[in-house]
Amino acid sequence: MDYITSILKENRVFYPSHEFSRKSHIKNIQEYSKIYKKSIENPEAFWAEKALQLDWFKKWDIVFRNDYGFFKWFEGGYLNVCHNCLDRNIKSGKKDKIAFIWEPESGESKSYTYEQLLKEVCKFANVLKKKGVKRGHVVEIYLPMIPELPIAMLACARIGAIHSVVFAGFSYDALKDRIQDSKAELLITADGSFRNGKIYQLKDNADAALKECPAIKNVIVAKRANNKVSMANRRDYWWHELVNEKGISDVCEPESMHSEESLFILYTSGTTGKPKGILHTQAGYLLFAYQTFKWIFDIKDNDIYFCTADIGWITGHSYIVYGSLSNAATIVMYEGSPTYPNPDRFWRIVEKHKVTIFYTAPTAIRALAKEGGDWPNKSNISSLRLLGTVGEPINPEAWMWYYNVIGKNKCPIVDTWWQTETGGILISPLPGATPLKPSSATKPFFGIIADVLREDGSKANVNEGGYLVIKNPWPGMLRTVWNDPERYKHTYFEKFGVYLTGDSAKIDQDGYFWIMGRIDDVIKVAGHRIGSAEVESSLVSNEAVAEAAVVPFPHEIKGQAIYAFVVLKRGIKKSEELKEELKRHVAQHIGPIAKPDKIQFADDLPKTRSGKIMRRILKVIAEGSTDYGNIMTLADPSVVDVLAKDRVK
Ligand code: WTA
Repeated sequence: MDYITSILKENRVFYPSHEFSRKSHIKNIQEYSKIYKKSIENPEAFWAEKALQLDWFKKWDIVFRNDYGFFKWFEGGYLNVCHNCLDRNIKSGKKDKIAFIWEPESGESKSYTYEQLLKEVCKFANVLKKKGVKRGHVVEIYLPMIPELPIAMLACARIGAIHSVVFAGFSYDALKDRIQDSKAELLITADGSFRNGKIYQLKDNADAALKECPAIKNVIVAKRANNKVSMANRRDYWWHELVNEKGISDVCEPESMHSEESLFILYTSGTTGKPKGILHTQAGYLLFAYQTFKWIFDIKDNDIYFCTADIGWITGHSYIVYGSLSNAATIVMYEGSPTYPNPDRFWRIVEKHKVTIFYTAPTAIRALAKEGGDWPNKSNISSLRLLGTVGEPINPEAWMWYYNVIGKNKCPIVDTWWQTETGGILISPLPGATPLKPSSATKPFFGIIADVLREDGSKANVNEGGYLVIKNPWPGMLRTVWNDPERYKHTYFEKFGVYLTGDSAKIDQDGYFWIMGRIDDVIKVAGHRIGSAEVESSLVSNEAVAEAAVVPFPHEIKGQAIYAFVVLKRGIKKSEELKEELKRHVAQHIGPIAKPDKIQFADDLPKTRSGKIMRRILKVIAEGSTDYGNIMTLADPSVVDVLAKDRVK
């Protein structure tokens, strides 16, 4: 059954156990409603009270200001994000608490206490300073899931540099575009990374990208794979050599940062053109990540929290690094694939480290469910008390498997809806309070007014699908698009004057939100956010291709996968080999996650009379449906039947 049909039929409700609720931060739905009401009546008072939990070098003057559509939080205040994640916890007695447990794909795990982590961060911060990195500079980070990744991010935050992390699964073109747009002068990478037992040549990708990034003056290379790599003279340096140089101290005073100075850029795909650099700033982002983590994951001092996301995406930024560390949590960070060496790797990790809170993507759940219920039963996963999902809609079948087989009918599931732009979770259950409905992200977090609108801006009826919007600003929201404030205004605020999420949703009779998927040309492949335009321009950069149009189609495991319609240049022969070559081309240039699952050669694409490709129609064709809607606006309506006939099944 497809996702939309199955959620329309869904009416089960699951309540948190009395035992769970009694010990949780927010204990019942009445308490949620009471705090929620207060939080939206006076968000400034709500957030100001919460902000007192952080350590400030100087308290703010004003909580919130709307500067002609650019939102400012806690202006006049000064703090340091790294100080709040490390020093503040050490001060409150957590110096020997484990901050990170790093689980490499092969071999022994390694852990860092808060005190050890602080020392590593300070040493690396001093290395960055020595290499000339100053407050406000951008540092590009292209690292796999190894301890150097959070250490590098925290070191940047400590000295006031802006980090821009690029997911290590991206390839050289994606890296090059991001480096060029961010204007970084220093890149941090590694000599390789492990996945499925194989080494990925990260440094080769970096070198290929750097050929077109002359602005990068220094490259710091972490040793992970003991892989032979080429090191450019007076540009490339080994991490371990730099931190062990004489005179590199393990003390580094944190910079006092204004609330609205930049903390990081994270590139994400939009509807058109190149990925946009989403900018997050200091205090508001930290506060939002802190508070959402605390209440949604109901964190307690003795919890062991395992988030399977890669830090290269926003989930890792907010809920492996900043939200979790600022709560003094113990975090398990895993380097490799969920199915290596077997499909019970996650459950083995749960058993090994006695994980209590587990947060993953629906794709992983579907993939592991498909392997059968026996795998989880081979490990003792009884330490689990809370489960979470993120990144894409979860279908009721996968939700039920997660609830029954992994959660043993006792762990609440927080289906957390949010985006790179939102900085933290906006719609989610509170695990001790919210009755759960499988596949519904349930209700907005405190201080968030979410709604569903029709095309004309009017409010949709109960259970009527429409545009999901957020009607008020919140501290964790993006501040702008890097180097492109116009794009920020246009993308997010032009349509309705309130924040446009790009998702469609409906609200049911109980006020529960049901996310139905992207409404624009963003595709969520296995939870990874890919822009149609990026894949199209990669295809067109192949010399055989004249034109390409990319749409999603439903995929049993990945949720969505990529279907590409390709028009070849005159004289080029259509062949299966060429299809494979084009798939490889995209994987090599952008990364394996962007590889089309299906390619259909076409002689013509459905276009309007003004020449615009109608992806809406191509999507219907890729889905195998005939529900095209009106095709009479096409320059040549007959192309639709031809394409449908040749559909790749
Ligand atoms: C989708 C990921 C349904 C959605 C944190 C959103 C979800 C996009 C959920 C953002 C969820 C995220 N249920 N869909 N619980 N969470 N999404 O920027 O389409 O990588 O707009 O951030 O993921 O993706 P991004």
